[in-house]
Amino acid sequence: MSDMAGPSSRRPSSSPAPGTVVLGVAGGIAAYKAAELLRRFTEAGHDVTVVPTPSALKFVGAATWAALSGKPVHTQVWESVHEVPHVRLGQSADLVIVAPATADLLARAAQGRADDLLTNVLLTARCPVVLAPAMHTEMWDHAATQANVATLRARGVLVIEPAVGRLTGVDSGAGRLPDPDEIFATCQDVLARGVAEPDLAGHTVVVSAGGTREPLDPVRFLGNRSSGRQGIALARAAVARGAEVTLVAANVALPDPAGVKVVRVETTEELRDAVVSAAGSADAVVMAAAPADFRPLSTTDTKIKKAGDGTAPTLELTQTPDILAEISADRLRPGQVVVGFAAETGDDSASVLDLGRAKLARKGCDLLVVNDVRGGAVFGADDNQAVILGADGSRVDVPRGPTSALAHDVWDEVVRRLEAAPPTRSD
Ligand code: CTP
Repeated sequence: MSDMAGPSSRRPSSSPAPGTVVLGVAGGIAAYKAAELLRRFTEAGHDVTVVPTPSALKFVGAATWAALSGKPVHTQVWESVHEVPHVRLGQSADLVIVAPATADLLARAAQGRADDLLTNVLLTARCPVVLAPAMHTEMWDHAATQANVATLRARGVLVIEPAVGRLTGVDSGAGRLPDPDEIFATCQDVLARGVAEPDLAGHTVVVSAGGTREPLDPVRFLGNRSSGRQGIALARAAVARGAEVTLVAANVALPDPAGVKVVRVETTEELRDAVVSAAGSADAVVMAAAPADFRPLSTTDTKIKKAGDGTAPTLELTQTPDILAEISADRLRPGQVVVGFAAETGDDSASVLDLGRAKLARKGCDLLVVNDVRGGAVFGADDNQAVILGADGSRVDVPRGPTSALAHDVWDEVVRRLEAAPPTRSD
């Protein structure tokens, strides 16, 4: 990809160096899932101190936390007083994550109380603080809880939206602790950036991911090889930076990122409807999906059979809507930043960058992330290399690195534009 290396090449970013992590555990049934989260942190080499609340120990005992972390476990400031743990733990942490954060913990944190070791740690931490709430839907929806969440977010705390799904007992709804692997991935993103203030806080963004499928008959479709990894990385990075995120996922087989509202679609038409509907209240729209450009003009209710004479059917195709061009032209919210992706293969007449610049102008978006996909590069890969072209003439070269690094470089460019010209809100 020699034509994409440029003088403005920037730092490679990757997984965070092992750091000092405080894992707070509040008294909810999801406390058992924090044991899995703890394991993920220690396996990644982080130094983890577990600080449960007294009621958390009713769900999972101190022996579990001590054995898994290899450290003594305290709930109060009155233990190991000579080490002043209520100050030292918060001061020396690179990250404080509380999972699960109960309604009571959110209330105490919002009030700035210091009535156990965990709330003391929250008051002394100067590093990023991530809270992963889990509770019954009624408690999450309650005005008091929502006010506490708003207070904490306004102070720079990253409060991850709970997942929707099965809760304790027979109930289901919003309030489920996201998958521990996904909470861990978000925390790794936060640690890798090493920035305490979430710079997308208060912003709503839409990301599309995956590849569409255009049905031909009940068993066949026209599709493509997009895995959705880059879109997932973008959604996760936006959550880690404090945004409210909707992910429109076309046939993505990967787990839902923590804190993201996921809308599942199959065809380009469905993708268009979901993106347009979410874009109305979005400050940024990132089209990382690979929508099919064509679909079969007609589909059949019955499976197309082989002809006895050996002839093959002829497919008649029709164009699908160009979502990126539509979103860019309509700007459903003035000042909205629109980002496209372009997978290109250059040739003798035009380089990948020439094609990228032409596409940027044609689509009318603000930023275009250009990948060179000669030889099938990018599809399904865990790392990526790209150039981010701006309609204002800017160019950022992103060296080969994890999809999360490219995701943050994209959001850096989006944030720059949102700060220069904040979107107008009519709601
Ligand atoms: N895109 C879109 N709607 C489509 C096709 C593409 O919104 N029907 C978006 C993609 O999500 C991506 C960008 O447009 O962000 C560029 O996709 P690409 O396939 O490279 O663009 P095409 O318009 O299909 O151009 P080409 O003729 O080069 O395939």
